[in-house]
Amino acid sequence: MYDNTKSLVKNIMEMKIPKSNICLDMTLGNGNDSLNMLELNNSIKIYGFDIQKSCVDKIKALNIENIYAINDSHINFDKYVDSDIDFAIFNLGYLPGGDKSITTDYDTVIHTIEKLLCAIKIDALIVITFYPGHKSGLDESINVLEYLNTLDQKRYNVVKYEFVNQINNPPFVCVIERIK
Ligand SMILES: C[S@@+](CC[C@H](N)C(=O)[O-])C[C@H]1O[C@@H](n2cnc3c(N)ncnc32)[C@H](O)[C@@H]1O
Repeated sequence: MYDNTKSLVKNIMEMKIPKSNICLDMTLGNGNDSLNMLELNNSIKIYGFDIQKSCVDKIKALNIENIYAINDSHINFDKYVDSDIDFAIFNLGYLPGGDKSITTDYDTVIHTIEKLLCAIKIDALIVITFYPGHKSGLDESINVLEYLNTLDQKRYNVVKYEFVNQINNPPFVCVIERIK
């Protein structure tokens, strides 16, 4: 079973990444999600976005040829990747151990997902981890979920995974699958 959202996300990656070519890490941070994807398939191409130059520089310094670390907002992903996207991952909120005032913003996240829904392949997944345990994360989860609730069920499956017996608004995960 899963004991936290990280093991759940890892399990989703294990199902999807071996069959993927183009993957987007929408919140690169310290690069853990990108490195986990690469471990599952070393022939994928990963486009990783972060608005913090320090995060991007750190990943660039690793000199991994499959990871294109881009110092830009995820909303501009289509400047760098055309289409044919198999997998995209968002890990919302602020960078652990970093500047807590630099967080994702729900308006930008919603507009990015809107654009992504047209750019991903059929069968592609978008995985989003939410952190409603703090005020801005709670606002973000309420607003993004409200948007996800509106997606056409004939074109997208949208699943929410949450720990219903954990206290203090634990993190949860949503997965969008394009079916048509
Ligand atoms: C929770 S952290 C991500 C952790 C990361 N996935 C890892 O494995 O270390 C969220 C990251 O999103 C970044 N971020 C915030 N707004 C962004 C935006 N509009 N576009 C891209 N990255 C953004 C922050 O700078 C921060 O590094």
